[in-house]
Amino acid sequence: MIYVPLNNAQPGMKLAKSIPSSIGYFSLLKNGEVLTSSLIEKLREHGIDGVYVELAGSEDIEPSCIMEPEVRQQITNEFRKLYTDYLTRPAISYKAVEATKKIAENIVDQVLGRDEYLVDIMEIKGYDSYTYSHSLNVGILSILMANEMGITRNRLEDIGLCALMHDIGKVDIPIQIINKNGPVTDSEFAIIKTHPEKGVERLRKCFNVSHEVLQGVQSHHEKVDGTGYPYGYKGTRIPMFGRILAVSDVYDALTSQRSYRGAWLPNQAIEYIVAKSDAQFDRDLVGNFMHIVCAYPAGTVVQLSDGSPAVVVKNFSENVLRPQVRLLESTELGPKGAEINLFEDREYFHLTVKAVLGDANFELTPGVAKIAQ
Ligand SMILES: [Fe+2]
Repeated sequence: MIYVPLNNAQPGMKLAKSIPSSIGYFSLLKNGEVLTSSLIEKLREHGIDGVYVELAGSEDIEPSCIMEPEVRQQITNEFRKLYTDYLTRPAISYKAVEATKKIAENIVDQVLGRDEYLVDIMEIKGYDSYTYSHSLNVGILSILMANEMGITRNRLEDIGLCALMHDIGKVDIPIQIINKNGPVTDSEFAIIKTHPEKGVERLRKCFNVSHEVLQGVQSHHEKVDGTGYPYGYKGTRIPMFGRILAVSDVYDALTSQRSYRGAWLPNQAIEYIVAKSDAQFDRDLVGNFMHIVCAYPAGTVVQLSDGSPAVVVKNFSENVLRPQVRLLESTELGPKGAEINLFEDREYFHLTVKAVLGDANFELTPGVAKIAQ
């Protein structure tokens, strides 16, 4: 199967993977369904960023799966219920924190026992932009980053709890500001900037939340150059959990659709994070991050620097920018269907990934004209 951003989706394409609804209890569209203009419009209304569709010769390509779909769905449902509870009660109870810790433990178990190594953000996304699913994604990414750093199991669970709770202070921000369609005004932004401390205020009363978790919640919007909030701390003055969350929070936010912009592609969001190393993010942590995310998830349609169109088959955690790809048409590199390993094969070291289907600069060639018009 291949991944097609919704803007490139065409009537007649056949879905290779069901699209769950935002609450996960049913499918918006089922595997095997053929897209029509009205279905594409419906997907757009639901904020779907893209779809997996069938393409002859790519049947064996599957997105990598960090967590069994049923387990992910169960965790999502439990966490959604808890989050609703946070919203409706004036304070967070001991019991609610314990239940959230259980979810963090469950994610750590899943992540440590995984077969797949790299996170395909398209795959983990729950197809919505609710705070709880964002927090869940930030949890998965933060635990993986922390694991990459070699921290202990107890602290992995703590970073998970911290990530799940990091935006809890948004509960105390007026909903019309949180859900505003479009950029916020300066005074609205000043109110939004209070959410880390409001979160700490709520959690401070729970004696089963560690100091390190509180620090992480408080500092997840700090930037290493001192331009973040609430305190403008610099470098390692920002607690470790805050520095980890800063990377995973921004990565998940950029790859999600917003009312005023489309979702960024994984490689675009990774480029942004790398470019902001030492300004916004801790450079060493960005190095860890680069070992846990796919820049070009399996199924991504790419164009190589020689112009050849190809689809990504496999990724390597040692270098997430150099996947193995399969040619979508015969070119000077080889016949249609031939595989090119950009990471291991010296013969292809001169080649790079020039563009991704969905980029403005993606040039059409006959091989992809059928899938991207
Ligand atoms: Fe936040």
